[in-house]
Parts: sequence; C-alpha cells; structure tokens
Amino acid sequence: MGEYEVYTYISSLPARNPSPTTTTPHQLYNLLATLNLQTHHHDHPPHPPLPNPAPPTPLRAPFPHPPPPSPNRPPQPPLPFPRTPHITLHLKREDHSSPLTNSGNKYRKLEYLIPDILSAHPQHGGLAPGPAHGTASPPTSTSQPPQRTTTLVTEGAIQSNHTIQVAAVANHLGLETVVVLHKGAGGGLSASTDKEAFLRTGNVQIAGLLGAEVRVVDSSTIAIAIASGKGEGEKESVVSRVLEELRAKGKNPYWIPSGASLHPLGGLGYARCAVEIAAQERGRDIEGGRRVDYVFVACGSGSTVGGLIAGFKLLEKMEREEEKVTQRPPRKVIGIIISPTQSLACHQERVLGFARQAAGLIGLDPQREVSMDDVILDDRFAGTRYGVLDAETKEALTLMARKEAVMLDPVYTAKVFRGMKHWVQEGELARDWTARVGASSGYGHDQERVNALLMHTGGQSALSAYADVE
Ligand SMILES: Cc1ncc(COP(=O)(O)O)c(C=O)c1O
Repeated sequence: MGEYEVYTYISSLPARNPSPTTTTPHQLYNLLATLNLQTHHHDHPPHPPLPNPAPPTPLRAPFPHPPPPSPNRPPQPPLPFPRTPHITLHLKREDHSSPLTNSGNKYRKLEYLIPDILSAHPQHGGLAPGPAHGTASPPTSTSQPPQRTTTLVTEGAIQSNHTIQVAAVANHLGLETVVVLHKGAGGGLSASTDKEAFLRTGNVQIAGLLGAEVRVVDSSTIAIAIASGKGEGEKESVVSRVLEELRAKGKNPYWIPSGASLHPLGGLGYARCAVEIAAQERGRDIEGGRRVDYVFVACGSGSTVGGLIAGFKLLEKMEREEEKVTQRPPRKVIGIIISPTQSLACHQERVLGFARQAAGLIGLDPQREVSMDDVILDDRFAGTRYGVLDAETKEALTLMARKEAVMLDPVYTAKVFRGMKHWVQEGELARDWTARVGASSGYGHDQERVNALLMHTGGQSALSAYADVE
C-alpha cells in the first residue's frame, strides 16, 4: 500500500472536511538546552528557523542593509552534544489548528462530524441508552422527511475547551448551540479562590460571546463517567431533558458527547493527524527528515490518543508492506492522563475502544490489528484533581512560557509537558528507546537520534479563569 492509498483510505471517508487541518511541528530549541539533554560538542544542530516563517519581503528604504539581530533574539550559543541517544524535542501546534475561535484538538475531531451534522438524515447525534450511551441514534430511514440539525448540544466541565469549539463550529455552520457545564466536574471550580470569576471568565465568557446558550448545572457527571457506568441516571436526566425541551420547541438537536470521544466518528481527526505527522517527517519538518519516535499527548476523554494510535497503526502496516519496518521501532504514542479520578485500567479500556473504533473506519481490522499493547498511558502526572494545577505542573507551564514563549494550558498540556520533561530528564525515554532498539537485531544504524513530539492541543483560553496562576 503506497502513500497515496493511505490518503485515499482516510480522505475517502464520507465525513472528511474538504480542507483538513494542518499544523507544522517546530523544535523546542531553548528547552533542549535547559533540560540538559546535551553535554558538549561542535556538532550542534543549526538554529531552527522560526515556525511558519513569513515569506521574504524586499528590504525597504529605512533598512538599506539587513538590520542587526534583534536584542530580543540573541544568537544562540553553541549547544553541547547529546548523551546517547540524542533526543530532540518538537512541538506540534494543534492550538493553531483551526481558523475559528480558540482552536485546539477538538476542531480536528469536529471536522469529521460536520457532514453528518449537516446531512438531511443524521446517522448519529442522538442519546442512545445503555453501553453505547451517547454514541448513535438508530439510523433514520431516508423515506422520512429531512431531519436537519438546528442546534448542537454538548457538555463539559466549567472551563471546557471542547464546548467553545462546538459553539464556534455551530456559528460557522449557521446553527445554534446549547452548552451544559457541570459545576461538579473536576476540581477547577472548588480550588479557585474566586469562584464567581471562574464561572464567568475564560471559556465561559467565550461561549457567551459566541452566542451559545450556556446552562450551568450542579451535577458532576460528564460522558467519561457515564462510560464507566457511574452517574447514568443523573446524566440521563440533564442531557435528555435539554434534548426533549428543544424538540418540544420544534428544534432538531444534535448531541455531541464531551470531547466528541463517544461519537462514532470522534477518533478520525487524530487518525488523520498521524498521517499528517508522517508526511511532515518526509517533508523534513522533523529534524533531519527522521521519524517522530515518541508522541506525548493529553488523555482526557480519550479519542485524541485513540485516533493517533489507529493512524500510526495504519502507517506501520503500510511501512511493513513497503518493507521499511526494520529501519526503526514503531512510533510510540504516550497518553498522559490528566485526571486521577478513574483507574488506569479504565482509561486503557476506553482508549482501546476509541482506537479500535477509528481503526475500523480507516481500513484496519480493529480486533486483530489494534491491541492493548498499543495503548500506553501514564497516570503519574494527573495531579490531585482534574482542572487543578499542582506546583510541578505550574513549574512546567512557566518553563515553557519563559524558554520557548509558548503558552500551555493549565488543565491538559502543562500536565503533558510535565510528563514529557520527566520522561526525558529522568532518562526514561532513553532507556525505553535503548531497550526497544536492543530488542531487535533488524533495525538500521541510525538509532542514536530520537525525536519526541509534544502535541499542544490548545486550551489557553481557560487561563483567565486561572488568575491565581502567575
Ligand atoms: C486542550 C485540551 N487538550 C487535550 C484534551 C484531551 O483530548 P481528549 O478528550 O480527546 O482526550 C482536551 C479535552 O478536552 C483539551 O481540551
């Protein structure tokens, strides 16, 4: 199977948006030095260009000669040489993934829901009872009159990033949005010293500005808890009441579960993103045109990790068919759990389910080709509660801001970066790599350089609700 066929596999899916999202990874050059990954040498990598450099423009009269380097961007001192293996850090700016308000990882997912939302007979978007809760309505017969969606309904914790991306997409499609925000979900609200501000700033403010109808409820139950069987009754009553109420008003609501993960198409966006990463490797956006060997990404509702796993499995299959697989160990996706509420086993089951769901849609055999061995989740950085910024996570957030001028978010990406930093600084990544390379005699020679990619999945729009963080 060639490159073209993979694109065809994914792009021929009916739910594909005609202009899929792309973001370009860039190197975390200053952090590399700060994390002390390199010890000495002249063979340091060249200073990378700024991400997305502007097209060159001719210098005008005030600058007859190229201006001197800006004092804000002093030349980088030579970097010392790596220990073995040499790890290079990259950042993929999924926080720039959308042209709409406050982009982030949910935009890629929603791209794949749009055709169903807009169809005359949506196949999904209902609130199905039982284990498939929130996943699908029974398919409607096409002989029925059109059931066009009028209103997107979704839910989340008070500072949910997902809900504002749903509202942004709804505006773009000319639909209404109802957003249900659960006061009891996570600990952000209870840990805040200014609860009143937490309830109206950040994403709550943005949802309002986007014109979404925001309903703040006392409950604590969002879809992830439902998936584990907890709080079923409570959730049924909150969401089904909203849907019934809208139907009674003649509206046609379309239900998108929290994080879109329980939606049957929710994993496709990140399956495609895996293909995009592989294309960027070949396009030399990744150092030396090498592979991304490790991907660190937040695991909240779970379909971002699940989709990436499925996409990389498809790429591996292609590579095997092209007999490239002996060159390098498979890319490893490490999902960093951001909430300590549920057990690791519960997260693993859920992510495996999402990975298999996406795998089935992109042409893999889900049961045979995706297994629990592919699901690597790390729950050591979840902190005390969902939405609560512990001291180490805050330190990681400020380190990234000060060294790379990249703002992470307090709920997801700061925890992921903390995890990645730990894997790198404590030598876990190097040991893991060495063990994997050593386990096979078939890999090629180029194993001393390893690329790790941090997925910046967005979420900075919640920062103003975290005014205590400074
Ligand atoms: C900024 C941000 N990053 C990562 C995630 C996690 O993605 P997922 O829910 O697919 O696990 C979320 C989910 O809400 C998010 O808002």
